[in-house]
Amino acid sequence: MATIAKKRVAIIGAGISGLVSLKECLAEGFDAEVLESRAEIGGQWAYQAGPDEKGELQSSMYDGVVLNSCRDTTAFSDFPIDPARHGDYFSHREMHRYILDYADHFGLHKHISLRTKVLDCTQDAEGKWIVKFQEDGSKPQEREYDVLISATGINSIPIIPDFKDRESFRGEFLHSHYYRKPGRFEGKRVVLIGSGSAAIDLACELAPGCKEVHVITRRGTWVIPRYALGKPVEAWDSRASQVWLPSSVAEWLNTTLLNFVQGKHPKELQPDHKLMQQNPTIRTEFIEKVRHGVIKVHRGSVENFLETGLKLTNGETLGADVIITCTGYKRERPYLPGNVLSNADTPEFEADLYKLVIPARHDNLYFVGYIEQAGPSPPTMEAQARFAVGVIAGNITIPKGEKLLKEIRAWQAWHAKTYVRSERHVNTETYVPYIDSLLAPLGANPTFGRLLGQVFTSGRALQSLSVLSAVYFDVTSSAQWRLLGRGKNEDLARETVLRVSSGKLESSTREKQLLGL
Ligand SMILES: Cc1cc2nc3c(=O)[nH]c(=O)nc-3n(C[C@H](O)[C@H](O)[C@H](O)COP(=O)(O)OP(=O)(O)OC[C@H]3O[C@@H](n4cnc5c(N)ncnc54)[C@H](O)[C@@H]3O)c2cc1C
Ligand SMILES: NC(=O)c1ccc[n+]([C@@H]2O[C@H](COP(=O)([O-])OP(=O)(O)OC[C@H]3O[C@@H](n4cnc5c(N)ncnc54)[C@H](OP(=O)(O)O)[C@@H]3O)[C@@H](O)[C@H]2O)c1
Repeated sequence: MATIAKKRVAIIGAGISGLVSLKECLAEGFDAEVLESRAEIGGQWAYQAGPDEKGELQSSMYDGVVLNSCRDTTAFSDFPIDPARHGDYFSHREMHRYILDYADHFGLHKHISLRTKVLDCTQDAEGKWIVKFQEDGSKPQEREYDVLISATGINSIPIIPDFKDRESFRGEFLHSHYYRKPGRFEGKRVVLIGSGSAAIDLACELAPGCKEVHVITRRGTWVIPRYALGKPVEAWDSRASQVWLPSSVAEWLNTTLLNFVQGKHPKELQPDHKLMQQNPTIRTEFIEKVRHGVIKVHRGSVENFLETGLKLTNGETLGADVIITCTGYKRERPYLPGNVLSNADTPEFEADLYKLVIPARHDNLYFVGYIEQAGPSPPTMEAQARFAVGVIAGNITIPKGEKLLKEIRAWQAWHAKTYVRSERHVNTETYVPYIDSLLAPLGANPTFGRLLGQVFTSGRALQSLSVLSAVYFDVTSSAQWRLLGRGKNEDLARETVLRVSSGKLESSTREKQLLGL
């Protein structure tokens, strides 16, 4: 019988979620391997100019993507990003380079099988997973694993709503998944459906060269700038405000700050929901371009398509040469059993996943990367991976059977009260409190009491006080989740937390030494 340390783990996908899962599995001594359908690692961040030779397009990155989460929060918790090499927010190409560096640094490449697509996973009577996969140019094969980690992302399978009379439209119709550059749309009238990050980014990219740019939003949206009062906007949302302030106070403060730095949203865009009830969209110049009139926002839904454009539920008719539906992505896992996320008993717009990681109806199966929040993905995915590996290794005990389902239902009730009710928010969570809840069982959540305790016990009283202050009142640098507990990398984490807090524009010599650079 396999010992715990020899558990055989299949990780599906070599995006950020798969890579952090692999690193954590290897650290725990598991026999882990990643199966990745593409020819390279990095998932979304491995830009594709268009569909590959199989006609598949996994990445939704367009040429002009700049991160909407800032450098110091987006970094992996134990692989800081050097400000000497990267600005506060940087391009998808730089992000991909950084992911490749991460994989090199932790020796991940040799555990990854590229061009290997997982077709189907079934569980046998003993709970083992039989994974059917196909390497490019070969016949499908099967392999048995003790554990499966599903890390195939949530931004690759476009949602194309069934718009009435769509086929009657004589112009070009596409999903934002297929958009890459603004050039070929120059001089055209473009209508964008939706007001998520893609729609807002595309509107700003297209506005300078297009004849007209229209954005259709059915419930309005909050659009926030990347900077507020000279700092990345995340610098105003410290751990203290995320864990100590009642949500109504945080809501009021954030909304007041936003209105102060940007002015009130134009009427058509003003959302029905509060700022923290949905992940805000980040784009500095959008509101300004709406005020200039180069982007026109329309409040309503699509009634039907016309030969020459579309008609809205508010009675407006828009003429268009191009309609781009920016309506987001399905969170499906086509290779897993159909009832894995929900069944007839699951409340609408919810998934039966404990902490968004562990499915209610299948053992030895974990989700990493099934998450949306107003925060950066990499540290959250790392925390999910550490939680999953903690459970697999027996370092974390979770409820079983009915008790597990009861906890899931309780979370779903909170979730339903907290966020806008929509398919889009099925996997929305908070940022700092959610990561803390995943890492608390490993002792890796940096509570005020434990950081204060270090002032007296660490032998580094002054430094520990500075760390406490940086963690609670400064930008939420991801290194804070490596200060304590299982999986800690304390010296590096202290250096990074303090350097980020100091605002220095280069990694410290000590950080580089500790990273072996
Ligand atoms: C335009 C855009 C901008 C974004 N900007 C930010 C940002 O600024 N900050 C941020 O934190 N996040 C951002 N995100 C979110 C981004 O998706 C995450 O940062 C992250 O890339 C998700 O990683 P993942 O590994 O979960 O999924 P993915 O990156 O999608 O990786 C999934 C991997 O699984 C593979 N795969 C899929 N199916 C199979 C199969 N059947 N068999 C084998 N392999 C399979 C895919 O090929 C892929 O490599 C952005 C997303 C988009 C689309
Ligand atoms: N620069 C960046 O970093 C960047 C850029 C692009 C994307 N991203 C990320 O990529 C992910 C996907 O973003 P996305 O913008 O493609 O998708 P998204 O965030 O899911 O937004 C989808 C939009 O389409 C609307 N919509 C959905 N179905 C609709 C329908 N039937 N009719 C009308 N409107 C409809 C939604 O409205 P409702 O709100 O009313 O549901 C929402 O406005 C997100 O995580 C995002 O943060 C990041």
